[in-house]
Amino acid sequence: MKFFNREKEIKEVLSVIESEPQLIHFIYGPINSGKTALINEIIKNRLDKSRYEVIYINLRGRFIEDYKSFIKVLFNVKKESFREKIKNFFKGLFFSLPRVLNKEAIKRVSSGILEGIPIAESLLEKFLKKNKIEDVFVFLENYFENVRKKEKIPILIIDEFQVIGDLKINGFLIYKLFNFFIHLTKERHLAHVFCLSSDSLFTERVYNEGKLEGRAKYILVDDFEKKEALEFLSFLEKEILKKEDFLSQSEKEKIYDLVGGKPVYLISIINDLKTKSLDEVLSYLLQDEKAKIKMELEKFDYVKVKVFYENQEVEVKKEDLIEVLKKFKNKDILKKDEVKAPAYYYLVRKNILFLDPIKEILKPQSRLTWRAINRALKELNLV
Ligand SMILES: Nc1ncnc2c1ncn2[C@@H]1O[C@H](COP(=O)(O)OP(=O)(O)O)[C@@H](O)[C@H]1O
Ligand SMILES: [Mg+2]
Repeated sequence: MKFFNREKEIKEVLSVIESEPQLIHFIYGPINSGKTALINEIIKNRLDKSRYEVIYINLRGRFIEDYKSFIKVLFNVKKESFREKIKNFFKGLFFSLPRVLNKEAIKRVSSGILEGIPIAESLLEKFLKKNKIEDVFVFLENYFENVRKKEKIPILIIDEFQVIGDLKINGFLIYKLFNFFIHLTKERHLAHVFCLSSDSLFTERVYNEGKLEGRAKYILVDDFEKKEALEFLSFLEKEILKKEDFLSQSEKEKIYDLVGGKPVYLISIINDLKTKSLDEVLSYLLQDEKAKIKMELEKFDYVKVKVFYENQEVEVKKEDLIEVLKKFKNKDILKKDEVKAPAYYYLVRKNILFLDPIKEILKPQSRLTWRAINRALKELNLV
C-alpha cells in the first residue's frame, strides 16, 4: 500500500539525517502507530541513495539469547569461494575488510537497503569463536569509516531495539551498545543511529539512563490525530475499496470516535467493509478489545500477579489496577505521577496503557482501548 502523510515526522527525521551525526535517535510510540512504516518510507523513498548507506536491522521475532545469536542478526554474511576464504584468512582480521566489504556493499546497495552489516563468512566465524564484542565494534567503526571514504554517510537503524534490552554479554549489552553509539555519533560524527521501539517501559529505561543524557533525542510517532485519521480513511477508501466517498463524513467521524487514529485499525476496518456493515465491524472491534481487558482483570481472582519494577518482582493488586483504570473514566490522558507505579507498569506491559516517559504521561494504547476499558468497567459493575 502507498504511504500516507506523516510529513511532520518525515521532515524531522530528514533534518536529522541532513545534519552531522551528533545524537542517538530513539523513535518511540504506541504499538502499531506506524514507526516501522515511517522509517521504511524514509529510507526507501525519501533519501538520496547516492549520499547515504542505510543498514536496517529488524530484531522483531528474532530470538537473541547470547553473543552468538546477536552477532548473527547484526551481520549479513557474504558466502566466499574457497579461494577467497584462503585469501581472507591470510590477510588477517582487519586488513581484509575494505576489499571484501566494498564488493559486498555495492552488491546489496543496488536493492537500496542493507539488512545487516556485510561481512565475509570467514571473518564472521572468527568473531563467533572469539566471543569479544569489542572486536566487533572495531570492525563496525572500520566499516563506517570506509563508507565515509566513499563519500556516503552511514545510517544504522535498529528496529524493535527492546529485544536485546536484557541481553548480557559480560554485563548488559545495551550499555556497551550505547557507549559505541555515542562514540559513532557525538564523538566521531561517523554515522547516524536510529533505534525504534514500541515498548514504552524500555523507552523509559533508556530515557533514565544517565549515560545518554544530552546524547540522545526522542522522536514520538503517535497514532494519527483526528484530522489525519479522517483523511487517512478517505485515502484508504481509494486505495483499498477503489471508491471515493464510500463512507459519509459522519461515518468517518464515528469510526474515529470509537477507534481513534491507529493506522492498523483503520486499515482493517476499511478491509472488513468489503463484506460487513460498519456497525458490525465496529462492534466486533470493541467487543474483542473489551474481552481482552476483562480477561486481564479476571486473572487476578485466581493467581498472584507480579510485575518487574525497579529490578524487583512486585505484586500487583487488583484494586490498584482498577483504581488506575477508573481514572480513565472521563479523560484519556493522565499524568504519570497520578497513578501507582506497579499497577500502571502491569498495564503498560500488557499493552493496555502507553507510557510516554518524556512527556510523563500515561494513556490507553489507542482510543479503542480507552473505550474498551470503560465498557469493561461498566460491565463488571466497577463504575
Ligand atoms: N503512514 C502510513 N501510511 C500507510 N500505512 C501505514 C502508515 N503508518 C502505518 N501504516 C500501516 O500500519 C501498520 C502498522 O504500522 P507499523 O509501522 O508496523 O507500526 P509500529 O512499527 O509503530 O508498530 C503497517 O501495516 C503499516 O503498513
Ligand atoms: Mg515496528
